[in-house]
Amino acid sequence: NMQVVTTIEQLKTIVNDIKRQGKTIGLVPTMGYLHEGHLTLASTSKVENDFTVMSIFVNPTQFGPNEDFDSYPRDLERDTKLADSVGVDVIFAPSVEEMYPTNGGISIRAGRQSEILCGASRPGHFDGVLQVVAKLFHLAEPTRAYFGQKDAQQVAIIQTLVRDFNFPLTIRTVPIVREEDGLAKSSRNVYLSEEDRQQAPAIYEALQMAREHFLSSFHVEEAIELAQNHINQKTSGRIDYLQLLSYPDLAEITTETEQFLLATAVYIGKTRLIDNIIFSNK
Ligand code: PAJ
Repeated sequence: NMQVVTTIEQLKTIVNDIKRQGKTIGLVPTMGYLHEGHLTLASTSKVENDFTVMSIFVNPTQFGPNEDFDSYPRDLERDTKLADSVGVDVIFAPSVEEMYPTNGGISIRAGRQSEILCGASRPGHFDGVLQVVAKLFHLAEPTRAYFGQKDAQQVAIIQTLVRDFNFPLTIRTVPIVREEDGLAKSSRNVYLSEEDRQQAPAIYEALQMAREHFLSSFHVEEAIELAQNHINQKTSGRIDYLQLLSYPDLAEITTETEQFLLATAVYIGKTRLIDNIIFSNK
């Protein structure tokens, strides 16, 4: 019997009760408009914990002034049904006022890992993510918190937050859930026109081509160029970035690097799509 709560007090009452029983809590932070990616995080939490909390909150502090905060898709009624269907125990869907009652100006600054990739084109974005995630960690007191590899840079930065600020929880990462043609599922895919949607699978194709080329040649520039050319030929989109970095430190690769992140952001029409592959050379 899933509950939907909107206040911190309601959530705390539930969390305190679960904690008193010595049960484990899994937290799945989302901005709603749920799709199979979110639901996979919830199902994984369900398997690994006694109790699963899903937050649904379109967090204003992680959107830039010219970004899509106002138009971001919202449908709590539909989300409630979907979350219930995978066994979420409680949805926490607060208002902006509930989450940010003061304008005290205290924030968390994401470090070096936030200066590149999405952080370069979205200044302040990861500061906002860390602000809301830190609050959610205090509110839900999770044993484990679930994040998608879809936002690989986000998980890497949140891992650093947990380590640096000693949050007593484990971060669990779930692989990217894709459409049948390879497009990574995203709440923003609803923005795509039919033509955009037909072009979009080229993004993942390009990443796979680059990975194969890199693993057989270890030639970074060639691999990146191959992927860029594929996207430019198959789509009318504009590449924001396409980069190969070490993971999870998000630094330049060296001969010592064992785990790689190949990540891209592409504007298809007005929609900014991101995708990535994490792989090793072993
Ligand atoms: P949102 O974009 O709603 O994503 C919520 C979680 O679902 C994130 O951890 C994201 O990586 C994961 N996710 C999205 N698409 C996925 C896919 N195709 N496969 C697997 N996982 C996927 O990310 C956010 O919200 C926000 O920044 C948040 C962490 C909630 C803070 O506001």
